[in-house]
Amino acid sequence: SKKIAILTGGGDCPGLNAVIRAVVKSSLRNGWQVYGVLQGFSGLLDPENKVIEMNEEHVRGILHIGGTILGTTNRANPFEYVEDGEKKDVSSRVKDNFAKLGLDALICIGGDGTLSIANQFSQMGLPVIGIPKTIDNDLASTVITFGFDTAVNNATDALDKLHSTAESHERVIVVELMGRYAGWITLNAGVSGGADVILIPEIPFNMEYVCQKIESRYNKGRKFAIVAVAEGAKPKGASELFSKGKGEEGRQEVVLGGIGEWVANEIRQRTKRDTRTLTLGHLQRGGTPTTFDRLLSTRFGAAAVRMVKDGQFGIMVALAPPNVVAVPLEEAIKNSKQVPHDSDVVLSARQIGISFGD
Ligand code: F6P
Repeated sequence: SKKIAILTGGGDCPGLNAVIRAVVKSSLRNGWQVYGVLQGFSGLLDPENKVIEMNEEHVRGILHIGGTILGTTNRANPFEYVEDGEKKDVSSRVKDNFAKLGLDALICIGGDGTLSIANQFSQMGLPVIGIPKTIDNDLASTVITFGFDTAVNNATDALDKLHSTAESHERVIVVELMGRYAGWITLNAGVSGGADVILIPEIPFNMEYVCQKIESRYNKGRKFAIVAVAEGAKPKGASELFSKGKGEEGRQEVVLGGIGEWVANEIRQRTKRDTRTLTLGHLQRGGTPTTFDRLLSTRFGAAAVRMVKDGQFGIMVALAPPNVVAVPLEEAIKNSKQVPHDSDVVLSARQIGISFGD
């Protein structure tokens, strides 16, 4: 019999509950004890209050629910933990508590931040397994992360809805979508939702070309346009300031209002067209996970438990279609995965006339 713990770190992500459910159910069926760690790594600093033994009851009816039953996800890093106004390395306390709890494995669900911390613990000898979670899909070593499909669906739905209002008023509507470092959401939703212009961090844009595309539509009689812009997109030759995105503490503001506002202003000034802008924001992360994400999350959770059983640690579960495989955690966190310029989706988008503003 084994005792394992599961924790989630970073932002919430559709499918988290489905992963937790799969881990709990398959562990219990192995005859193991399974613990949920509340509030990310900081929960392991306070095991008495924040580590709870889980049973079937905890995971009943949560497959399709957004958010996470393990409480607010927390970005605290035990290697740089802020306590009494000071930054400290409290990782040894986590390690001690792990031993005191008599745990055999720790399953960490997270994006690059959480998985980097998980990797550091793995190097300190903790038996750790990672599960790739981010709506941004920017983790290397897995074809896809869970949460991404739902975010793309939510964004596509918004683009669909904006068409009728843009057309009714002959407007240009600029939608800012999430993605600080990678344009996966904006690219996939932009193509699926029929955007005319797609601006992503990987392809710096030129406002002149963006406006040319818009003008050519109006001249052809299609008197509206939809521009999808990733929060980390930047104009050609722009300073680093443009590429930082916004939202997280310590991250620099792009420009007041974000890159969406900035692009909309430029379009307004250059084309004199009636232009509106909105930031979809956390709507992309909220609500029910798609079928794809429920399935992927369940597969990831179950695979992680199989790997605990096999004694495979220091790894992350990853989708390598058609299978879920184990990849070294160290590799998975090395680079963020960006949209290749020659990706099939980019090429197809260009072929059907979508402009990347380059
Ligand atoms: O990494 C996921 C993500 O949703 C990004 O797309 C976005 O930049 C960021 O998190 C927003 O962070 P916060 O939850 O702190 O607003």
